[in-house]
Amino acid sequence: MRMSVIGCGYLGAVHAAAMASIGHEVIGIDVDEGKVATLREGSAPFFEPRLDDLLRDGIASGRLRFSTRAADAAGAAVHFLAVGTPQIAGGHAADLRHVDAAIEALLPHLRRGDVVAGKSTVPVGTAERLSARVSATGAALAWNPEFLREGWAVHDTIEPDRIVVGTTADAGGETAAALLREAYGPAVERGVPFLVTDLATAELVKGAANAFLATKISFINAMSEIAEAAGADVAMLADALGHDDRIGRRYLGSGIGFGGGCLPKDIRAFAARAEELGRGESVGFLHEVDAINMRRRDRAVQLVVDALGGLVFGKRVAVLGAAFKPFSDDIRDSPALDVAVRLRGLGADVVVTDPAAVDNARAAHPQLSYAPERDTALREADAVVIVTEWDDYRRDLTPEHAGGLVRGRIVIDGRNCLDPGAWRAAGWTYHGMGRR
Ligand code: UGA
Repeated sequence: MRMSVIGCGYLGAVHAAAMASIGHEVIGIDVDEGKVATLREGSAPFFEPRLDDLLRDGIASGRLRFSTRAADAAGAAVHFLAVGTPQIAGGHAADLRHVDAAIEALLPHLRRGDVVAGKSTVPVGTAERLSARVSATGAALAWNPEFLREGWAVHDTIEPDRIVVGTTADAGGETAAALLREAYGPAVERGVPFLVTDLATAELVKGAANAFLATKISFINAMSEIAEAAGADVAMLADALGHDDRIGRRYLGSGIGFGGGCLPKDIRAFAARAEELGRGESVGFLHEVDAINMRRRDRAVQLVVDALGGLVFGKRVAVLGAAFKPFSDDIRDSPALDVAVRLRGLGADVVVTDPAAVDNARAAHPQLSYAPERDTALREADAVVIVTEWDDYRRDLTPEHAGGLVRGRIVIDGRNCLDPGAWRAAGWTYHGMGRR
């Protein structure tokens, strides 16, 4: 099938490459010339495991191309919309400028029977508004939310756990569902649930999924606050809760909380849209979820300050991690980097390291010092803070090795990812978050 993917960021570039890998003929379109040039060379403009291979294979096969011209979308049967919907400046709602611009650019190139499938995360009601414009061309609009996680994006795109398609209740909607079923053919044949619903439900599924995930993380972090006050251990608590199948252990990772380009802005946009719909109280808890999450960063900074005797001024602090999570170079709303910036603001001599995100972090926060190597960051440190649980810090760093590099054996485990017993046995003062 011929398809276009409008917007080649984390979502669109992966989607385009994944669709080509299952046999479709794909054109990826982005207004950013630099990004398109990089993609044309078969490399990803960001760090995402497996993506470079997929891009190279797709380009070599001739099935995957990239362009800056919206006109090159003409002739595709399905046009996936994968542009960003960031948080609006000065508010909590989603900024739909890129979605509207992409639709405007696409409209002149749509043919009767084409399908525009929105993948971007949008406030409920957006698809219906866009649908009128699209259907005037004889094409149909569907909403097909994406649930991929950065770091697992290729896996999640090729092997999703469900495919959700929202359509209009007319012939155009039927065509859209049929074309999308064909587009996702291999996954559908493998039995991946393919759920066809209305536009609003499809939009809501995405917002609700991220709201649920954020709530789960903030729930365990709220328990972390209680555990800390009560002298209990939140990591053991999470293990025990997780054995209950109805709860499950995943997304009960306590620590400095969630960040990234999705969860924080999505729960805010979700709440803002609920307010517009007159149902603000229904998701009032999301404000708490957000507040609990932001408190985690304060708490991590406080732990460092306390561990260093109440004053970090002039103390050398090694910050292990800058990305918002491992296997990503994304620093958007990264709690890891936020902790580093706050410590630096208190006068600490902060050295940040990360296996993938140093360049992005340096561009955003040139005032911090960076070390490309973990061990360089650790050298002469008065305290070590782990804020992104890369294997390099969590699994591969022994307390003995780290102890040979630092000046002070103080470790603050912002992701509760270390074995406190092992670190203490090696002479370290260990501070977890909500752990004994
Ligand atoms: C999230 C969702 O998981 C995806 O399903 C969704 O498609 C995506 O947002 C999106 O809307 O595009 P992502 O932002 O890539 O994916 O990252 P997650 O793996 O969800 O992690 C988000 C944040 O939560 C990270 O900062 C991570 O460190 C934190 N986290 C995650 C925890 O603090 N504890 C956990 O147990 C899990």
